[in-house]
Amino acid sequence: MSEPQDTSSISFTALYTGHVWAKDGLSAPFFRTRGGAFLYGALAPFEYVGRQIAGGNIRTFLLQRHLLIDHRLHQLIEDGVTQVVEIACGLSPRGHRFCQQYPQLTYIETDLPDMARRKQQLLTEHHVLSERHKVIPINIFADDGDLSLAHVLGQLDTNKPVVVITEGLVNYFPLAVISEFWRKLATALQRFARGIYLTDNYPLYQGMPFYHTLKGLGRLLGAISRSQVGFHFHSDEQTIGHFQQLGFDAFTVHNPADFYGQLPIPQTRGNPMVRILEGTVF
Ligand SMILES: C[S@@+](CC[C@H](N)C(=O)[O-])C[C@H]1O[C@@H](n2cnc3c(N)ncnc32)[C@H](O)[C@@H]1O
Repeated sequence: MSEPQDTSSISFTALYTGHVWAKDGLSAPFFRTRGGAFLYGALAPFEYVGRQIAGGNIRTFLLQRHLLIDHRLHQLIEDGVTQVVEIACGLSPRGHRFCQQYPQLTYIETDLPDMARRKQQLLTEHHVLSERHKVIPINIFADDGDLSLAHVLGQLDTNKPVVVITEGLVNYFPLAVISEFWRKLATALQRFARGIYLTDNYPLYQGMPFYHTLKGLGRLLGAISRSQVGFHFHSDEQTIGHFQQLGFDAFTVHNPADFYGQLPIPQTRGNPMVRILEGTVF
């Protein structure tokens, strides 16, 4: 068995996003952490300036992505999905919220071993885990063994559809590296009645407002998290073509701006920085 890549230097970012969800009323209060509050406070002045000058900031696109993934997940559950796997769950409250709302749901949360342990402890302390709501470890770069995607998906019923989510993960890696995972995922989803993949992605479309700012932010985040933050796509067409080549049968790129009238999501002044990608394997 080969040792998968160690990417745990990224994990602290989950404290920040976890605090954003808690501050915005998306989490039960027990999801708040001291580390998250500290990072949230430290970034507050930059967030204020970003909002005033650019008409949008990190919190804007975090909330856009989180609420849009929630929206698609609600729709897929209403359409009959009963199994969800959330990879790189961090301190996201989604599993807790959805399990409370949908008693028919099986929900597996997964993250690197340390973060998974932390989440498991948190949810156990608050008595919210059950047979149908579990936390187990994964490393998306493990090809076999207990940390592999195959092991996680092996806990589910392949005769039923499944939704796999990654949020706040894929742009920490260059396209060639994360594509290995996407190809593995598309192949694994073929075993299910239907497999749907939802992820956020930060594109770098020419003409996007603050193109250079976004590139600079990426470099900064890459340095702090010791990862190779990358922007993968330059157009929706390129995105769709790429995922079809990796084995997804149908693919849609959702722009948060198309949901402004419909969902209570914060609005950006210009073209939103984030997209939600949805790939299906039949
Ligand atoms: C920005 S946080 C996002 C957390 C959560 N999804 C959210 O939106 O609040 C990134 C997460 O990716 C996880 N992660 C980093 N490398 C990973 C890997 N190789 N496999 C699985 N998860 C990983 C980190 O531990 C961290 O929880």
